[in-house]
Amino acid sequence: MRDRDAPIGVFDSGLGGLTVVRQIRTFLPAEPVLYVADQAHVPYGGRPLVEVRQFALGISRALYAAGCKAIVMACNISSATALDTVRQEYPDMPVLGVIGPGVRVAVRCTRNRRIGVLATEGTVRSQAYRRALQACNPDLEVVEVACPAFVPLVEAGALDTPETVQAAVQYLSPLCMAGVDTVILGCTHYPFLLPVLQRIAPQLTFVDPARATVERLLHALLQRRLHAPLRTQADLLVTTGNPDAFRRQTALFFPDGDWQIASACWSSDGTLTLPERSSFGTPCPLLCPPF
Ligand code: DGL
Repeated sequence: MRDRDAPIGVFDSGLGGLTVVRQIRTFLPAEPVLYVADQAHVPYGGRPLVEVRQFALGISRALYAAGCKAIVMACNISSATALDTVRQEYPDMPVLGVIGPGVRVAVRCTRNRRIGVLATEGTVRSQAYRRALQACNPDLEVVEVACPAFVPLVEAGALDTPETVQAAVQYLSPLCMAGVDTVILGCTHYPFLLPVLQRIAPQLTFVDPARATVERLLHALLQRRLHAPLRTQADLLVTTGNPDAFRRQTALFFPDGDWQIASACWSSDGTLTLPERSSFGTPCPLLCPPF
């Protein structure tokens, strides 16, 4: 049995998973987070799925070894390739992905049964969204669009530049032409682009799976009596890339973010070792979420 005060392990290839951490901070203010941004390998989207799966397994194992009480794959392509395996490896621990929660919201939202998915190339290739949506309702029409420009733009902080708008127009056009009414943001980096997407296509309902994922996390923690009564540690954000650049990036996106930043390295045998829990910061007041 894991420790109730242990952190929630959350990971992504880069900054995208922080859109899920933002929801954890809002809805589960007592839960500390240990976040891994695998910026040594970002973007994941154009890589072979077997390679992404190895990264996702390596990070999940590192989060487990660091004592996390739950794992959230705040990364669609990792959820598509590694979720089942990690669940089998740790049957006693909640392990959540973002695809199922997003699919359930989209199926509730659509009126005309035409759903669009914006995702990375790899997630589209995996067909995970198409399968999950059609398992909920075989009559759904699903239109998936790969958006290879989006993750590099978000990582560069270009949330609303002419290049970003141009890419968004290009990616939204096939969805508008197909007449979808609901669009799943099938990559956790994309909610950072929501203002641009909504400006270009205000008639569409955009689904960010983050909130529904965190609701499921709360449910899983309560069910296993693993929820923290009080916040006892600050959040720790670990990058496999450059920690100074990561500090600047996170400060740009979340100027009020109250967390420690550290770095970790992959070893040549594909294992990742995270900093000791003593690297977590001092207790934060419960009513002072960092967002
Ligand atoms: N944010 C991730 C996802 O949700 C990965 C993006 C990438 O690195 O390509 O799929």
